[in-house]
Amino acid sequence: MPAKRVKSSAKAWRSKFDVDLGEEPSVCVRVGIIGCGYWGPNLIRNFHEVAHAKVVAVADLSAHRLKPLKRKFPGTKFTVDYRELLKDPTIDAIVIVTPISSHYTIAKAALESGKHVLVEKPLTATVNEAERLVSLAKRLKKILMVGHTFEYHPAVSKIADLLQANEIGHVHYIDSTRVNLGLHQSDGINVIWDLAPHDISIILHWLGKAPQKVSASGRSFIKSGIEDVAFIHMEFPGNTLAHLHVSWLAPAKIRRMTLVGSKKMIIYDDLESVEKIKIADQGAHFNPADQDLRISYRIGDIVSPRIQVAEPLFQECSHFIECILTAKTPKTDGVVGLQVVRVLEAADKSMKKGGRPVLL
Ligand SMILES: NC(=O)c1ccc[n+]([C@@H]2O[C@H](COP(=O)([O-])OP(=O)(O)OC[C@H]3O[C@@H](n4cnc5c(N)ncnc54)[C@H](O)[C@@H]3O)[C@@H](O)[C@H]2O)c1
Repeated sequence: MPAKRVKSSAKAWRSKFDVDLGEEPSVCVRVGIIGCGYWGPNLIRNFHEVAHAKVVAVADLSAHRLKPLKRKFPGTKFTVDYRELLKDPTIDAIVIVTPISSHYTIAKAALESGKHVLVEKPLTATVNEAERLVSLAKRLKKILMVGHTFEYHPAVSKIADLLQANEIGHVHYIDSTRVNLGLHQSDGINVIWDLAPHDISIILHWLGKAPQKVSASGRSFIKSGIEDVAFIHMEFPGNTLAHLHVSWLAPAKIRRMTLVGSKKMIIYDDLESVEKIKIADQGAHFNPADQDLRISYRIGDIVSPRIQVAEPLFQECSHFIECILTAKTPKTDGVVGLQVVRVLEAADKSMKKGGRPVLL
């Protein structure tokens, strides 16, 4: 049976899709993917596995990059001109996996061509561009989603649940390290724009708020003008601090976040295969009324909750399709993408000004 197409207005589908999509296998969102460098093939693979999605066309400026994919996905159309995908009226949704500098131009053109859009992180290269995309998507009533992949990670969701349940009390501070040796990016972006979108999106998601003050320092040790090491400091309303260390210049790969709360502490190590999260029943207490004026320390159990096994990128791709079919606002919509770009831009600005704090 030929696949039914998704109509241009997602709203039109709401009435039809107030149903279990699983019972309508013929309903299908036709997807075009732009950009097949390092990350793009992962999106092609995942969208191929999502029910109700069909990857019908793929574009990359480089014919060389398309060649191995043509053999792998024989039913898909391949082109070096992404505009062919935008002109194709049978394509419902566009996924943008190109360098950051091109996100705005391609996303804008895709929205204006009547497509729903998923842009890989970060949404855009500037706040101004992100604001324009958000209002364009709103005006055209199209889904605009950003690929903050870690927000679809079961471990990140588990910690969000723990915070929601007040398991660790007031979050005093979050410390994050995301370092390894390489990969310096070819399109001139620094390490803040490459790695920090992950930590910033995770922290904003956990805390449910944006920082009021951002400062950063960094250096370009390898390639002049492109910072490869940066330290970002954020201050949130409600007396919470966050500190990020992002680097392409480190002897070992580390993906580790520590949350210190008034009741407990959490360590999230993404490189751990089994015990990704550890909750430590530890803390310190000071009672000024105590005659000895001593600080008491509590060192209790450390437990590791079970984490569901699921590929975050698959969850991200499925969520995009579900939002199109049910007219649902994505968990990581354009507004969320804009908030992260605001922090990135502030951190970059502060770094360029020798660490002077930027108020948001
Ligand atoms: N969510 C994640 O975990 C994650 C991981 C890695 C990369 N990314 C993001 O994915 C995006 C791409 O990163 P990458 O590492 O794959 O970059 P890359 O440089 O390896 O690949 C980009 C590809 O886009 C192609 N391209 C550039 N301009 C184009 C255009 N106008 N039309 C068609 N193709 C074009 C290039 O030829 C190249 O093949 C970036 O936004 C990056 O931040 C996300």
